[in-house]
Amino acid sequence: MKLWETSDSLSSDKLVEQFTASEDVLLDEQLWAYDILGSLAHSEMLYQIGILSRPERDQVCVALSALMNEEVHVTPADEDIHTKLENMLVELIGDAGKKIHTARSRNDQVLVALRLYTKVWLLEIADLLLALAKECAQFAKRNEGQPMPGYTHTRAAMLSSVGLWASSLSECLLDDLDLLEAAYALVDQNPLGAAAGYGVPLAIDRELTTQLLGFARTQNNTLAVMNSRGKHEFAVLSALSCILLDLNRFASDLILFSAGEYGFFELPPEYCTGSSIMPHKRNPDVLELLRARSARVLSMLTQQAIILKGLTSGYHRDLQETKRPLFDALSTTHASLQILTPLIAGLRVNKKNLDSAITPELFAVDEVLERVQAGVALRDAYRQVKERLNQLKRRDSVKALKARSHAGGPGNLRLPELDQKIAFLQNLWSKRRQGFDEAQTRLLRLGT
Ligand code: ARG
Repeated sequence: MKLWETSDSLSSDKLVEQFTASEDVLLDEQLWAYDILGSLAHSEMLYQIGILSRPERDQVCVALSALMNEEVHVTPADEDIHTKLENMLVELIGDAGKKIHTARSRNDQVLVALRLYTKVWLLEIADLLLALAKECAQFAKRNEGQPMPGYTHTRAAMLSSVGLWASSLSECLLDDLDLLEAAYALVDQNPLGAAAGYGVPLAIDRELTTQLLGFARTQNNTLAVMNSRGKHEFAVLSALSCILLDLNRFASDLILFSAGEYGFFELPPEYCTGSSIMPHKRNPDVLELLRARSARVLSMLTQQAIILKGLTSGYHRDLQETKRPLFDALSTTHASLQILTPLIAGLRVNKKNLDSAITPELFAVDEVLERVQAGVALRDAYRQVKERLNQLKRRDSVKALKARSHAGGPGNLRLPELDQKIAFLQNLWSKRRQGFDEAQTRLLRLGT
C-alpha cells in the first residue's frame, strides 16, 4: 500500500509507478540505514512529547533497530523507501507502527536521510583527501631538491622542482577541503520537523532530534529547509568538482611526464594496463579515467543547478532527481581519491631524465635578475639577455633552487608547516567522525 492509498485511491498505474519510482527506489536502498536512524530519533521525540506511549516507543525502536540489519529491496510498487519502512513497521508491530509518521512528511524525512548519508560520504572523502595530501607532501619531501623544468603553455619556462610540483597538489587539496568544510556545515543542519515545508500544529521538539541525530544545529525556517534541497547538494558538488579538477590536472601532468618523450616519472606497473595488439604498451588508463570521471562530476554539478532553475518555493517532485547526481558524484570522488594515493606512493622518479631536461633557457630569468641586482633596469636587462639567448648557460640547479627562498618558492616550500596543517586537519575531521559515529551508536541503543 502507498501511504496515500485509500479505497477511492488515486492512480496506481504500472506505467506511472515505473516512471516515478523505478530509478529512485534503487537509490533509496542506499538510504535505508539513514531513514531508520531518522525514524529512531523521531520516535524518541514523539515519545517525549506524549504522542507515543513508553511501550509504543519501545516497540517502534526495537523494530527499527532490527530492520537496520535487514537487506531491503524496494520496488516501484512500494513507491519509496519511506513507504516501505512504514509498511514493514506496521507489519511487524501493528498499531504502534501507524503512529510513526505523526508530525513528519516524506519531504523532511528524505532530507534527514540524505543529509546523514551525505555526511558519512563527506567524512570519508575528507579522510581520503587528507591521506592523498599527506602522500604528496611526503613525495615532495623525498624529492624536495630534485630539479624539474617548470612549464607554461606546455613549453619550458623556468626552473622548478619535483618538490614544488608534488606539494602543489597537497596545497590545492587543502583549499578544496575548505570548500568541503563549508558544504559539510550546510549539510550538518537538522531538517526534521519541517514536515511538508510548513511545520505542524504540534509542540514538536526539534532541538531534541538535532541532538539525537548528531547534527550541529537545527535548520530553522521550515520553508528554507525545503528550498535548500538541491542547493546544498549543489554546494557539495561544487566542492567535489574542485577536488576533481585538481586530480584531473595532476593526472594530465603524470600522463605527460611519464610518457617516454619526457620520462620524468615511472608509473607503478600495477597501475598500468596493456594493449591487446601492441606488446610494448604500458598505458595510463587509471589516470585517463580519472580525467574523464572529473568531467562526469562537473556534468553532475550542472545537472543539479538546472533541476532547481525555475522552481518555486516548497517541495516539488523534481527534487527527487537531485539524488542521482549527488550519489554519483560522491562515490566517483571517493574512488578517484582512493586510487591516486597508492599510485603516488609507488611513483618512481627518474633523476637522470629530469636532470638532463634542465636546459639553459630555464635560467633566462635568473640571468635577467642577476643583472637587475647589479643595478640594471629590468627592461634593459631583459633586452640584453634576449639578444644573447644562445649564450645562456646551464647553472647549478641546486643553488638556483635555493635562491628561490621567498615564501612558497621552490627553495622554501615550508613542508613542515604543510605536514602540521595536514595533521591538524586529520585530527579535526576524525573527531567530527567520532562524534557522528557516537550519535549513531546512541540512537541504535534506543532499540535495546
Ligand atoms: N522520493 C521522494 C523524493 O526523493 C520522496 C519524497 C516524496 N514526497 C512527496 N511529496 N511525493 O523526493
